[in-house]
Order: sequence, then C-alpha cells, then structure tokens
Amino acid sequence: MRLFDIQGVHYRYNDVPALAGVTLSIEQGQRIVILGANGSGKSTLLRLLDALYFPDRGSISFNGETLTEERMQDEAFTFNFRQRVAFVFQNPDVQLFCPTVFDEVAFGPLQLRWPKEQIRQRVAETLELLEIAHLKDRAPHRLSGGEKKRVALASVLILDPEVLLLDEPTAALDPKSQSQVVDFLVEWGGTKTVITATHDLDIVEDIADYCYVFSNGQVAAAGSPSEILHDEALLQRTHLIHAHRHRHGNVIHSHPHLHAPHEHHLYEHGSQEHDHA
Ligand SMILES: Nc1ncnc2c1ncn2[C@@H]1O[C@H](COP(=O)(O)OP(=O)(O)OP(=O)(O)O)[C@@H](O)[C@H]1O
Ligand SMILES: [Mg+2]
Repeated sequence: MRLFDIQGVHYRYNDVPALAGVTLSIEQGQRIVILGANGSGKSTLLRLLDALYFPDRGSISFNGETLTEERMQDEAFTFNFRQRVAFVFQNPDVQLFCPTVFDEVAFGPLQLRWPKEQIRQRVAETLELLEIAHLKDRAPHRLSGGEKKRVALASVLILDPEVLLLDEPTAALDPKSQSQVVDFLVEWGGTKTVITATHDLDIVEDIADYCYVFSNGQVAAAGSPSEILHDEALLQRTHLIHAHRHRHGNVIHSHPHLHAPHEHHLYEHGSQEHDHA
C-alpha cells in the first residue's frame, strides 16, 4: 500500500532553495534510506513528511490524504497522524525539554493518558533497551551528544509508531551504540515503515530495502542498497565518497575512500606511508 506520495515538491527557506522538484513514493513497510551530502535536502524532506513544513509547489500525501496546513488544523486528523508518524530529529536538543530523562520518555505516554503502571513499566523497558536506565534521573540537556540521541530515540520508540522518520540516527553515537541502534532497527522493521536520512554508507545495507540519493535538492539516483553502493561514479559525484591521496613509496595516487577498512599491500608498494590530505 502506498503510504507517502511525493509529487514534484519544491521548498525554499526564504531565498535558500532546499528541494527543487522531488518526486518519489514510499510503500507501507518499506525501509528507505535517503542518502546525500550536507545541504542536499534530506532533513527538509523529513520535515515535510512529518508535516512540520509544507511544499511551496507540488504535493505530499499520506494514505491518500494531501498534507496541507489546513488539513493539519483538523485535530482528529493531526492526532491520528502524530500517533502514527514519529520523527527523531538530527539535533536532539530541539527534541528534549523535560527536567529528567524519565520524564522525557514518559512524556508521550502521559499525553496519551496511558495508565500510570503501564507507563512506569514501558519507560523502564525502553530505557533498558537503549541502555540509558542509569541516566533516568539526569537532566537531558546535560547529557553527552550520544546519550541525548538515545533519549530522543527512546522518547519516540516508546510510542511504537507505524512510521519512523530518523534524521542521522547514528551520527553522534560511538561504534557500539551505532551497531545497537542498527540492530534495533533491523529487528523492529517488520510492518513498520522506516525512513532514515544519513550519509553513513556503512549502515545502509542493514537498514534499507531501497535508497534515494539526493543532490542539490533533487533525487540524483534511486535503487537497491547494493546498486547504489557499487556505483562509485555516482557516490563521488554526489560527494558521498571522496578520493584520498595516498603515497606509496614515491608514487602518490588517489582512490575512493569507502569508509571501510582497506588493506595496503606493503610488499607490493614497498611502503605504507599515508598522506591523508
Ligand atoms: N532553517 C533553515 N533556514 C534556512 N536555510 C536552511 C534551513 N535549514 C536548511 N537550510 C538550507 O536548505 C538546504 C537543505 O538543507 P537540509 O538541512 O535539508 O540538508 P541535509 O541534506 O539535511 O544536510 P545535512 O547532511 O548537513 O544534515 C541547505 O542549503 C541549507 O542551507
Ligand atoms: Mg540534515
């Protein structure tokens, strides 16, 4: 079933163009990754999908209903939409506002008037899941970047939304936390729709069935993770990989840096000296 239908969407922030004619559709249960360099329009697209902003031109529909400012004024519609669609922002500071981590994670359920005992239990489970139980009495705005990111994730995941919009979910996380979040997303998948904006190529194959590559506010390419990740020319052109200069003996050459460990054959080149310019 078609969940989001995005047709010829343009969006600008005053005089800064951010999206310039984006057309794509997302099916229910799909796991989508939006790849793209800094400023390519990923976060803007997610804000539009979450009906925080609305297209200047073109349209976005959710389950066949066009998302407009007027439509969102209908309380029943908005309540239903907000319950089904959740957004974890790139910058957790805009998401966290409660005095303690516990309150932060309990906030959504309290708004929805869950029974007190159920709230206590689900908060405890969610804190445990994201390994932040020890932070429950701390002030969210005084945590480290990665800790904040986990609290923001917990505050959304506790509501078990159908559609999850994730903006750079692994960006502030250390390698262990990154793989925990990725493992969680792999398990959580199922019937859920997960749309993740990232420029981390390492996580794409695990968390996506399909990718869109954004460049200058447009869709530059679309395909399966393996098609996209094997298209070196595309990745270089869209600044998702960069060529590193390497010096092997007297020879300096460059090759794409794929953010994966690559071996240098000491004996072939005679030297392992690097020149990461
Ligand atoms: N609040 C804003 N006000 C003005 N311009 C903005 C604002 N947010 C984003 N932009 C501009 O819109 C364009 C797209 O930005 P967007 O944040 O969507 O990119 P992104 O792909 O998410 O980048 P990043 O990888 O850095 O998060 C950029 O040119 C950016 O400068
Ligand atoms: Mg962004």
